Amino acid sequence: MNSAERPAAAAGTFAIGGDMPVTRLGYGTMQLPGPGVWGESKDPDEAVRVLRRAVELGVTFIDTADAYGPFVADHLLRKALHPYPDDLVIATKAGFSRTGPDRWVPIGRPEYLRQQVELSLRHLGLERIDLLQLHRIDPEVPLADQVGELAALQQEGKIRHLGLSEVTVAEVEEASRTATIVSVQNMYNLARRDAEPLLEYAETAGLAFIPWFPLATGELARPGGPLAAAAREHGASPSQLALAWLLQRSPVMLPIPGTSSVTHLEDNVAAATIDLDDAEFAVLLRAVS
Ligand SMILES: NC(=O)c1ccc[n+]([C@@H]2O[C@H](COP(=O)([O-])OP(=O)(O)OC[C@H]3O[C@@H](n4cnc5c(N)ncnc54)[C@H](OP(=O)(O)O)[C@@H]3O)[C@@H](O)[C@H]2O)c1
Repeated sequence: MNSAERPAAAAGTFAIGGDMPVTRLGYGTMQLPGPGVWGESKDPDEAVRVLRRAVELGVTFIDTADAYGPFVADHLLRKALHPYPDDLVIATKAGFSRTGPDRWVPIGRPEYLRQQVELSLRHLGLERIDLLQLHRIDPEVPLADQVGELAALQQEGKIRHLGLSEVTVAEVEEASRTATIVSVQNMYNLARRDAEPLLEYAETAGLAFIPWFPLATGELARPGGPLAAAAREHGASPSQLALAWLLQRSPVMLPIPGTSSVTHLEDNVAAATIDLDDAEFAVLLRAVS
């Protein structure tokens, strides 16, 4: 299959942890479960098509979590793609319990993290998780105990690499005293760049930076939204510009746009083929400021 048929490859690759190469433009599964990221998908057949199409388009990095459904996204992943292609990296998370639609409660007790990693292995049909991210730091539990349990699972061969989610630079430094951290995942998009210091730290330390809400939950992809005029001028869609901007912002950036639709997926993955020059990069930033 040539690069026109696998457009995600145009984004180039990043080696997570130095030894796990992925296409820099990935896919996130959070839009696949029901409303409030709870329960079954409203269209499970389309969800399966989205996942298979992502891989066909060259995506080799899929972000998921036990908490999405819970386990609804993981069942869809397994149904759509198991046995998984050799080059596919599934990044998952543990550290949130779910008590209802839109309700997320951090739990970092070691026995809960261990349970969720074991359940993720079972639900995804994996022997080892390539990248396990602590979904949230539980403020009630010492960070060394949370990361320490994940490091123990890593030593047992159940996890390859460890990452963190929604953290500060100080928290990454603290966690790194217990285990090797290879990635961070924080909210970051053209319109919300509070995680800039963490991104700069990731660049210096060689960590993957995985921006969640890369489309500002769709606000940046919306027709008539803040990127609509620039998109018309560029002959691209607003979501493509939002994603192309992220890819250009840093070589350690791995956006994981979420969608429940094949049409939107194809639109998003094509962003990998868009090059922005410095002027266009600056214009997009001004468009949302
Ligand atoms: N670590 C964390 O705490 C955390 C938190 C949130 C998310 N995440 C991860 O980050 C991923 C991305 O975040 P997200 O999915 O919530 O938000 P997002 O990627 O910023 O935006 C998704 C929204 O945009 C819409 N959309 C996607 N592509 C579009 C297009 N081309 N045109 C128009 N609308 C489009 C989707 O609707 P349709 O379904 O209709 O396309 C959906 O409503 C998640 O899937 C998850 O893996 C992590």
